[in-house]
Amino acid sequence: MIGEKKRLAILASGKGSNALNIIGYFKKHPSIEIAFILSNNPEADILKSCDESGVETFVFHSKHFYETDQVLEFLKEEKIDCLILAGFLWLIPENILHAFHDRIINIHPALLPDFGGKGMYGKNVHAAVLQSGAKQSGITVHLVNEKYDAGKIIFQKTCVIDDNETTESLSHKIKTLEHENYPGVIEKYISEKEAT
Ligand code: GRF
Repeated sequence: MIGEKKRLAILASGKGSNALNIIGYFKKHPSIEIAFILSNNPEADILKSCDESGVETFVFHSKHFYETDQVLEFLKEEKIDCLILAGFLWLIPENILHAFHDRIINIHPALLPDFGGKGMYGKNVHAAVLQSGAKQSGITVHLVNEKYDAGKIIFQKTCVIDDNETTESLSHKIKTLEHENYPGVIEKYISEKEAT
C-alpha cells in the first residue's frame, strides 16, 4: 500500500553502478523504495548521477559518522528500514549496527570468506583471486557486522575464471553478476524478513 513501503537508504562512495542499478530496479516497486543515497565522499560520481535523476542524497563526514548520532538520527527521522551498502568502504559504527540489527546488507566482489577483509576492495580483490590460482570467483551478499566482510552470508553466485583471465576481465564479469543479482537478493531478503 502507498505510504507503507519499506524505505531503503544506499551507502555508496564511488562510481555507484550498483546503486544506480538498484535505484532503477525499485523505481516502480510496490513495496520497496530507495529513499536516499548516503555518501561520505562529496565528490562521489554517484552523487552527481543522483542529482541528475532526482534521487535525494545525504553527505556526512567521518567525525559525524563515528563520533556522533547525527547519521543515525537522520536515518530514524527519515524512517529508513534497511541500509544497503554498494561500494561503501568504511566500517559501520556500533550505534547504527545496533539500531539496524540484521538490516544492513553489503555486496562483496568475491566468494567470502576468502578474499575479504580490510584492503580487499576493487581491483585488489580480483588480483588476489587470480594470484591464488582459483578456478572460480563470484559475488557474496552478506549482512554487515562490526568486521569487514564477516557478517552472515545470504547469497553467493559463482563465475568461471578462464585461463587468460585478467583483473579487468574478471572485474567486468563480477560487475555483471552484481547487477544481475543484487537488487533481487535485496528484494527477497526484505520481503522474507517482513513475512516473519
Ligand atoms: C562493487 O564491486 C561491490 O562489490 C563492492 O564495491 C563495488 C562498487 O562498485 N562492494 P560500483 O560503485 O557499484 O560500481
